[in-house]
Amino acid sequence: MHLSRRDMLAALAASPFAQAMAGQAWAAGPVSRSALPAPSGRLFGTAIQPAQLARGTPLETSIRRDCQLLVPEFHGQWSAVEWIRGQPYHGNYDAIVAYARTTGKEVRGHALIWEEMTPDWARREMTETRDWVTVKRHFATLLARYRGKIGEWIVVNEMIDTESDDRDLRRNSFQQAYGNDYIARALETAREIDSEAKLMINDYSLSQDNPVDAARRTAMLRLVESLKNRGVPIDSVGMQGHIELAKGPIAQKEVAAFMAELAAMGVDIGITELDVLEADRNISLERRDREVADAVQCLLEVACDQPAVKSIVTWGLSDRDSWLQDREHATRTAQICSPVDCLSLNRGLPYDGNMRPKPMRGVLERMMAA
Ligand code: XIL
Repeated sequence: MHLSRRDMLAALAASPFAQAMAGQAWAAGPVSRSALPAPSGRLFGTAIQPAQLARGTPLETSIRRDCQLLVPEFHGQWSAVEWIRGQPYHGNYDAIVAYARTTGKEVRGHALIWEEMTPDWARREMTETRDWVTVKRHFATLLARYRGKIGEWIVVNEMIDTESDDRDLRRNSFQQAYGNDYIARALETAREIDSEAKLMINDYSLSQDNPVDAARRTAMLRLVESLKNRGVPIDSVGMQGHIELAKGPIAQKEVAAFMAELAAMGVDIGITELDVLEADRNISLERRDREVADAVQCLLEVACDQPAVKSIVTWGLSDRDSWLQDREHATRTAQICSPVDCLSLNRGLPYDGNMRPKPMRGVLERMMAA
């Protein structure tokens, strides 16, 4: 039987010993005192899971103090809100929206369309019928329910693919059912249903110095240009910012030019899913944390210099909860063997597994203040 990390963690968390251990480790971590300043009006935020919003933990305290913008890490995806056709489940989104309201934060919906988290029934229905009503119904359910409560939506997530398609767009069920125009139609449909919400498209691998990222920046610029030229409603472009240290340095000059071109086309920019996948964990802890912080600094120096960048969102706050652990066998093992082995985890977020602030948090604090 294959157990996912989540299954294992759930089983682990259920044992009284593990709970006691986790509690101790959790309580032991010092919480940093100051909020992240944002004099520029730029928002700082994080991906969250509803279970992390239980009051008073060090993580929740940091979310409440540091963040102005919350993004559901995966509970907002189509497969999470309508796993079974016609039986939408809104409990998780409702909880996030309610928490944001009482703590004075904004919510970004993530995501209306994302192939990876589209339920099978919807994929089938779309490709069989090619009827836009499948998408429209999904949009109408969410956008209408959260009108005035969710001010910004990632309408299409991860649509670029420069490696397997000559139009630079990813082959997915939406494209198969409706053609490349599905992106424009999705934005138009979202605008029709909620004319006030800001509409974003979001993609990865746009910030590093390698040929793939370079091609993807060009593809994104072409896409935005063509949407803008056709009068399609689009307010912002999200650069996920999942930095992978093995894939080269941040392409500062190119990213600055990319951002300037987007800004000139009249769209805002967000760094939407910032974290760092380490390349080498056999170096000293100090160097590991420095390399992560340096990469973040390189990206944020450029981002914070560009007025069109309106938000910086990290993909979680604590290494303990980072999705990057799933991508590395070594950390999966570390998590299974001990509730929080902070050194064995990938250290790509502002706080370590025990909520101790790391140099990356210092960089965020300085950059947000700039
Ligand atoms: C990831 C979450 O962090 C995981 O917990 C989930 O299992 C899969 O999705 N790009 C995105 C995010 O747009 O939604 C992804 O988040 C990370 C990659």
